[in-house]
Amino acid sequence: MRRARRAAASARFRARARDRACPAARAWPAADGFRAPSAGAGRGSGRSRRSTRRLRAAPARRPTPRPARPAWICRCPAGPRWRTRGCRGPRRRRARRPRTRAESPPERADAGTRTSRDNSAMTEPYAEALATFDRLFDEAAAAGEPDRTAMVIATAGLDGRPAARNVLLKAHDERGFVFYTHLNGRKGRELQANPRAALLFYWPRVREGGVQVRIEGAVEIVGDAEADAYFAGRPRLSQLGAWASKQSETLESREAFEQRLAQIEKEFEGRDVPRPPRWSGLRVKPERIEFWYAATYRLHERHLYECDCTGKWSKRMLYP
Ligand SMILES: Cc1cc2nc3c(=O)[nH]c(=O)nc-3n(C[C@H](O)[C@H](O)[C@H](O)COP(=O)(O)O)c2cc1C
Repeated sequence: MRRARRAAASARFRARARDRACPAARAWPAADGFRAPSAGAGRGSGRSRRSTRRLRAAPARRPTPRPARPAWICRCPAGPRWRTRGCRGPRRRRARRPRTRAESPPERADAGTRTSRDNSAMTEPYAEALATFDRLFDEAAAAGEPDRTAMVIATAGLDGRPAARNVLLKAHDERGFVFYTHLNGRKGRELQANPRAALLFYWPRVREGGVQVRIEGAVEIVGDAEADAYFAGRPRLSQLGAWASKQSETLESREAFEQRLAQIEKEFEGRDVPRPPRWSGLRVKPERIEFWYAATYRLHERHLYECDCTGKWSKRMLYP
């Protein structure tokens, strides 16, 4: 009598387990797709169809038909996507969620602007992004960042190979972000061939755990008057250095550079140093601006502002 009841329960359990298996898993061979928790038989890579059938059909040794805890674990790659009732994906355990930056009062990622926590349309997302940048830039100064103007610029020439290096931000407004360099150097040549760049700021002392700003866009040369005005304000030795440097070219020795500098110094003795013709400012005109705010347990916040091909800016959040 007890044996009959146990057999009936076992049959019910097997039927339920079959029903619970996810559709993707059913399509996979048993060796890859399923793992029976109590499976002792049929292990190994050379399992035949017959032995597989045996594995599925064999009564579980200790049937525990508890609907709340599925007996079959789906291990197929599509598991998480196809997860159905009873089909457990690989990532099931949930860690205790700490408070994110934005949740911790009173400070918020975009304090001072309109709601940064939702993705509702802003009338002027670009203006908001620039205002956010300005605020963070000020915060970087207040936080004592060694050089808040230092930014990485990434370029790629026509060969598609990316290259990155630091430059200094010298101006920024709604037209873009400006730095100065030699147009014949590597980055100058790459930007001439492929006038697009990515900028990266990282201010580890800002807010709770640091802020990263990413800016991407097309690049243009600033006007001569703007470049002249900036160059005129540089220390004289920096001006002479711009003439002396053949940026990115091979230098035989440090002495060779110093000799060249001395020669140029003599050349401009007693008069103002004009801007070298191939030395100018480059402006990155943003099409994407992303603010990344560090949060504990790597539950960071990302706010992306982007411009579509019609020139319309929008704003959204990204998973960290
Ligand atoms: C903090 C920092 C700031 C820099 N600022 C500039 C800059 O404003 N302009 C520039 O041409 N190079 C700057 N450099 C040097 C560049 O990183 C790089 O060595 C140089 O521009 C040559 O790069 P390229 O060969 O890829 O053209 C800076 C380097 C550092 C570390």
